[in-house]
Amino acid sequence: MDIKALVKRMTLEEKAGLCSGFDFWHTKGVERLGIPSVMVSDGPHGLRKQDQEGDHLGINDSIKAVCMPAACATAASFDRDLIRTMGEAIGRSCQHEEVSVVLGPAVNIKRSPLCGRNFEYLSEDPYLAGEMAAAYINGVQSNNVGTSIKHFAANNQEHRRMSSSSNIDERTLREIYLPAFETAVKKSQPWTVMCSYNRINGVFASENKWLLTDVLRGEWGFKGFVVSDWGAAADRVKGVEAGLDLEMPSSGGENDKRIVEAVKSGSLDEACVDLACERILEIVFKYTENAKPETPWDKEADHELSAKIASECMVLLKNNGVLPLSKTDKTAFIGEFAEKPRFQGGGSSHINSFKTTSALEAADGLDVIYAKGYDVASDQATDEMIAKACNAAKEAKTAVIFAGLPDAYESEGYDRTHMRLPDCQNRLIEAVAAANPNTVVVLHNGSPVEMPWVDKVGAVVEAYLGGQAVGNAVVKVLYGDVNPSGHLAESFPKKLSDNPSYLFYGGEGNEADYREGVFVGYRYYDKKEAEVLFPFGHGLSYTDFEFSGLKLSAGEISDNDELTVTVTAKNVGSRPGKTVVQLYIGEKNPVVMRPVRELRGFEKVYLEPGESKEVTFKLSKRDFAYWNVDIHDWHVHTGDFTVEIGKSSRDICCRETVKVNSTVKIKRRYTENTIMMDIMDDPEAMAKLRPIMGDFMSDFAATGDNNSEQANEAMNEDMGKAMLNYMPLRGGLMFSGGKITREMIDKIVALLNS
Ligand code: BGC
Repeated sequence: MDIKALVKRMTLEEKAGLCSGFDFWHTKGVERLGIPSVMVSDGPHGLRKQDQEGDHLGINDSIKAVCMPAACATAASFDRDLIRTMGEAIGRSCQHEEVSVVLGPAVNIKRSPLCGRNFEYLSEDPYLAGEMAAAYINGVQSNNVGTSIKHFAANNQEHRRMSSSSNIDERTLREIYLPAFETAVKKSQPWTVMCSYNRINGVFASENKWLLTDVLRGEWGFKGFVVSDWGAAADRVKGVEAGLDLEMPSSGGENDKRIVEAVKSGSLDEACVDLACERILEIVFKYTENAKPETPWDKEADHELSAKIASECMVLLKNNGVLPLSKTDKTAFIGEFAEKPRFQGGGSSHINSFKTTSALEAADGLDVIYAKGYDVASDQATDEMIAKACNAAKEAKTAVIFAGLPDAYESEGYDRTHMRLPDCQNRLIEAVAAANPNTVVVLHNGSPVEMPWVDKVGAVVEAYLGGQAVGNAVVKVLYGDVNPSGHLAESFPKKLSDNPSYLFYGGEGNEADYREGVFVGYRYYDKKEAEVLFPFGHGLSYTDFEFSGLKLSAGEISDNDELTVTVTAKNVGSRPGKTVVQLYIGEKNPVVMRPVRELRGFEKVYLEPGESKEVTFKLSKRDFAYWNVDIHDWHVHTGDFTVEIGKSSRDICCRETVKVNSTVKIKRRYTENTIMMDIMDDPEAMAKLRPIMGDFMSDFAATGDNNSEQANEAMNEDMGKAMLNYMPLRGGLMFSGGKITREMIDKIVALLNS
């Protein structure tokens, strides 16, 4: 298909029309030219295809589908292959249902536990989020249907999401809020990118040329089209210019007219409209020319797959040995979520599950008794309910409480206001734990909760929002049929106010200042040496693992070299299981404020008891670099870096050091305000200054002040040095007793800049 030729045959009105949706879920077709209309649908963890009344809030029904675990859970698998498999299944369902693009994955960084949409997002860590997103995209797109990575960018709160400006400094944007998108674009080339509702440093994402064109296409090489989040296009004409190709949903022809007028009046270059059409049509035909509606969609098989995926995502947060349960013992399942699990979040990602499996159903045939414990709908637990739960707990060897957040607590569209479980559930847990010390808490939630009872229970399993088959997965993990292997993709603070964004989150009016900078999640807690409830990367198993024999391919490299890192993981326990080998990098003496460690690699490894495997990582410049705001690029500052292997950001098992030499010289600009220390720190500057340095320095030290001699005597050597260190060049005028003149300073500045 010659797309360029096709666009040439379109009228201006047809082209402008193509730049917005036909209705809620379809692009426009142009019959006379054989341009088909295609459908897009939400995801990301399943298919939310609406065949009748459309909406983007999860209100109206969609077709029966399979709800897979949400991203909060899948990220915890730390398993690229697993999430790819999930993507493949979703891709098949899209082919079957004639959906050209599934709207996901959602990769915004979890800045605060409060964000209502955290359940849909992957991680507080951009490396992990990027890797998992790329795997998902590759999985979906292997079926020749597209994805729409969202919400580009810096959409980290639901509060005022359509008007708020995420005000973020350049380095933080580059290091924290953009890389998940960057990685996914570079590794998996999503067919589309969805721009977010919010503004970034004052400019709406939907009209942000820097973001949508310079960075996304220019720097990262994105080839597909940019679609607006539903209703995110503010000024449509500016949007076309900035690189927003498709506006969704339909604007009732209003914005199409504006585009036409702008071209006619000369304020918008028609070439921009042509380009948007070309990009949209490339994707439309890529899908339609290879559509395979005959692709089978075996929902039962996907339900099983969903159970398997969920079981690989669960994080065993705490275990004093009470887990795994024995199938011959009596167990009390307590809490309404045992019967009616909460397994997905609210809003546009809400899937109409064709069936669900609760833990109670999955435990059929086992010696399990049940007490409701609390009522989800009323958010209440009567004394009688709690008493019944305690009786059941006493009757059983172990009590398993199914707790978590009711639907209304976390959803797209608004943020949480606190991090607590419902009071009735906390009361229930305290009472049951007092009745039976063998108490286990299983959590169904999309984002961290406070656990005031954590020391009183024997085990905690974080099941997250595990999809429609979650009950199956939970029972397998509880009874040890599956050895838990999930690890936290986010830190669990002890309380909300410990979170680094606590003071600023949500912003003032429409201004949300990201003042914690790059210190998001564990990057903050580790730097502060602050206690957390459970650290990033944490996850227990029913077996034990040891990491040892860390080796680096070199002790010193240049920033053009690749460093190979090997380490051995061994299962030293008695059950087969999977572990996650995590690799962190930290700069020992950074010139800018940097986190102690940052995740730069991970591998999930399956090991039989006694078995060991060598794991290899390749590191390159970017893994050591920070974003340098002087050169607006990634830069490695020459120095020593730690390479750490751990089981979490707080459980580091081995550490080695490598020196990395920068091959990039950053030209410094000198002025009369440059301080001596910065000059002395630059070998090149010193080489230029050395011939005249001796005189200059002694002149500098002399002062015209009468009291100078006494003062000099009183001053110890260190103080003198410190004073000189921080002295700007122009200080010579005042402190050299007239020996250093204005001409001399000008000459030195010129010499240094030469
Ligand atoms: C959400 C998107 C979603 C779109 C379509 C918006 O409200 O932010 O994530 O894909 O609606 O439903």
